[in-house]
Amino acid sequence: MNKFAEYNQYLKELIEAMLINQNMHDAVNLDISDGLLRSYLSKEKIYSAGAFFTGQNLATLVVNSLKQPITFSSVVLDPTCGTGNLLIECSRKLDIEKQLSETLKKWGHVLWGFDIHETFVESCKLRLIIEALLRGCKLDCSVAEALDYLKNIKLKDAMIVQPDELKSVTHLIMNPPFNLWPSPETGIWKKGKVNAAGIVFEHFISLVNLDCCISAVLPDVLRSGSRYDNFRSSIAEKISGICEVWGRFNKQADVDVFVLSGFKVENKGNIKWHQKISAAVTLADEFDVCIGPVVHYRDPEIGCEYPFLHAKNVINWSEINNIDEKRRFRGRVIVPPFVVVKRTSSPSDLYRAAAAIINVEDKAVAVENHLIVLKPKSGKLQDCINVIELLASDFVNKYLNERIRLRHLTVNVIKSIPLF
Ligand SMILES: C[S@@+](CC[C@H](N)C(=O)[O-])C[C@H]1O[C@@H](n2cnc3c(N)ncnc32)[C@H](O)[C@@H]1O
Repeated sequence: MNKFAEYNQYLKELIEAMLINQNMHDAVNLDISDGLLRSYLSKEKIYSAGAFFTGQNLATLVVNSLKQPITFSSVVLDPTCGTGNLLIECSRKLDIEKQLSETLKKWGHVLWGFDIHETFVESCKLRLIIEALLRGCKLDCSVAEALDYLKNIKLKDAMIVQPDELKSVTHLIMNPPFNLWPSPETGIWKKGKVNAAGIVFEHFISLVNLDCCISAVLPDVLRSGSRYDNFRSSIAEKISGICEVWGRFNKQADVDVFVLSGFKVENKGNIKWHQKISAAVTLADEFDVCIGPVVHYRDPEIGCEYPFLHAKNVINWSEINNIDEKRRFRGRVIVPPFVVVKRTSSPSDLYRAAAAIINVEDKAVAVENHLIVLKPKSGKLQDCINVIELLASDFVNKYLNERIRLRHLTVNVIKSIPLF
């Protein structure tokens, strides 16, 4: 991170020169900062820090989603503030005074931020100073004094904050790191590693006061991944709020995100994780749905020989009557007719649930785990034909994109597709 100190030096020189020019505007352009970081730090460093900075439109959505306005009586905390994109956007809700010093004194009471990288903390403060100057404040103090007015933006590990440190926080905004951290043993998390964003978010939701306004950018896996069921139940007890699906974070970070906003409440929370579509009948009522049982690289090639189906020998939207590839397998095999859906897809694909009908006569098939199997309870080919038409519809595309932005479709989301 030390290399980033060069950038801070450049920002200090911009402030001291006090020349309002394009460089000044670029310094607080929220769409530039994420790319700029890449010219100072390696990809590996950025990934390990989880340092992906929020762009302008997303920052606007996060701040505008706060259910109470930011005023001079507010205390707005970004516990993983990075170089301050969300705090800069918050400052735009606050008035300025004539002098820089007076403005920063007032902003300093409202804007709080923590980060574990000193250079990011300094950069965040320098950028807020530049923002105030660009809004018309008169430079009446040294850079060192100006930095001092923003005392509540500091070097701090968000995970070792004590509850009384947050007593005055009225608004919590965040875009926490999205890398994997070891699972805390709090009963909420699956074993192994889990998304850091969930850990940081849950930690702060437990710490902040009732009625605290919350708005956070979170990875979609927390909204739709089956590993995060307990996280969702725990959060839903403490927050009354809504989710807005955003899509891909930005050009550099190919991860889908959503914004969760609302209030902390006591034991009667309620979060609309996704749009409710009421359907009397869902796909699970008419089909048995499972992941293909073969894990090709792991399962030994012993047992009887079967036709072998995997993502690469399935032609989308076809009816497959013959499978040339064979494989020995000792596990569960599937008797046609059935439908397979490719598990991996992207929200930008024309079809989220690319599928094919398998109608190989009298032969059980070994199906690989990159495919989801839909076996009609009726045993009828006609039900496979009907479901294929449904999977190719705009309705199902929209439904799946709204329910799950992750690349991997899950059995649960396929089971939940409404049948009309
Ligand atoms: C995704 S960036 C977001 C920065 C900023 N909030 C924004 O929206 O542009 C996450 C930030 O979290 C910081 N971070 C990672 N672990 C942290 C921790 N334990 N405590 C505080 N900050 C942390 C990283 O250094 C990084 O700057």
